[in-house]
Amino acid sequence: MFNKSEVFKLFDEFVYDPNIDGRHIDYDLTKHNWSEWFLESARELKPSLTRLEDIHLHFSVSELLSLRQQFERLTRSREFSQRIDSFFQEYITPLLGRDDYLLQSTCGIRVVVPDQVKLGRLLHFHNGYWTGYNNLTGTVWTPLTEAYDTNTMQMVDFDETRKLMNKIYEEQLEFDQIQELCYEKCFPINLKPGQSWLFNQANLHGNVNNETGYTRVSFDCRWALPESNFGIRRPGSYYRLQGVHHEMDSSKIKKGNWITFIDQNSDFVGLTPHYMLKEFMFQYMQTRKLDIDITEFHNSMWYMGEWAPRLRDYVSIKDLTGIVMPSIYAFACDTDLRLELWHEAVKNNTQLLFCDENILVSEEKDIELIEKLYSIEKKNNG
Ligand SMILES: [Fe+2]
Repeated sequence: MFNKSEVFKLFDEFVYDPNIDGRHIDYDLTKHNWSEWFLESARELKPSLTRLEDIHLHFSVSELLSLRQQFERLTRSREFSQRIDSFFQEYITPLLGRDDYLLQSTCGIRVVVPDQVKLGRLLHFHNGYWTGYNNLTGTVWTPLTEAYDTNTMQMVDFDETRKLMNKIYEEQLEFDQIQELCYEKCFPINLKPGQSWLFNQANLHGNVNNETGYTRVSFDCRWALPESNFGIRRPGSYYRLQGVHHEMDSSKIKKGNWITFIDQNSDFVGLTPHYMLKEFMFQYMQTRKLDIDITEFHNSMWYMGEWAPRLRDYVSIKDLTGIVMPSIYAFACDTDLRLELWHEAVKNNTQLLFCDENILVSEEKDIELIEKLYSIEKKNNG
């Protein structure tokens, strides 16, 4: 969000917590050897790579995107998600004094190669509120290489951030001016593997030109309290419940007669053109290598509303193998009716695939996760 009153409302509500705002933690590197995991993963693409600091010597700029995708796949895996859960339980839960938070489903990955500015790869200074986070969200930033000087993340402290934000909004500063002002006020987060930096969403932070000659790699994983106002970063999609991972077991998908379905009357879909969501669903199935034969695109997405006559009809058809849908939230009908429809589908042996949350429903127990996510949404919407 960029709206001034919304951003400053979050600033006003911000309460500094020395446990989690702007501090580092030391963790057991033998138990959580993140650097080794990422190196192994990168070596699947470039076996000659021996250390992450040398990524720029082994990957061309155009290959960095596939490296990032490879890393993202790693962070979504069952094993990695379990390791993240245990890392957070060990180091973050005691600081928060509670363990009912959600975690980011796919960690953010940063590969900061030397002289990234001239390659157009600079991550400019920004504020967490601008990028859709709020005060009930925290970031754990973990470097996988030694992070120092110009290759590391730069932060602006809270008081300076507040002053700069006033100036940015009052004078409607240009993008480059924001970068320059932050550059004057920032300090580097110097850390080694075995350390993570915890910070809130208020502080301005970003990168400067990496003049160290080494590539910095880091990953960031956010927690969000369940009472958080999630906005576009929805539970089940951007955030996952602890104990849940976003790796899809494609062997569970049944062969047969599948259709796609989009409820064009839902708030989720809104004014998004139908074809865009269809493309998104196809892309999702392709990248996850899900072997699903879509036999029909149905154009009858308009027969949806409080009582969902179209979808009710589909889930009651006995010879339909499955339905691919954009999201568990993409319906005009309420969550009670949605759950009733999912139970009906299971009764009729129809699988349901929700792309944005990466959820495949084949049996009753699969609906439990959706139920939990709906209950978080319900609480947030009062
Ligand atoms: Fe950020």
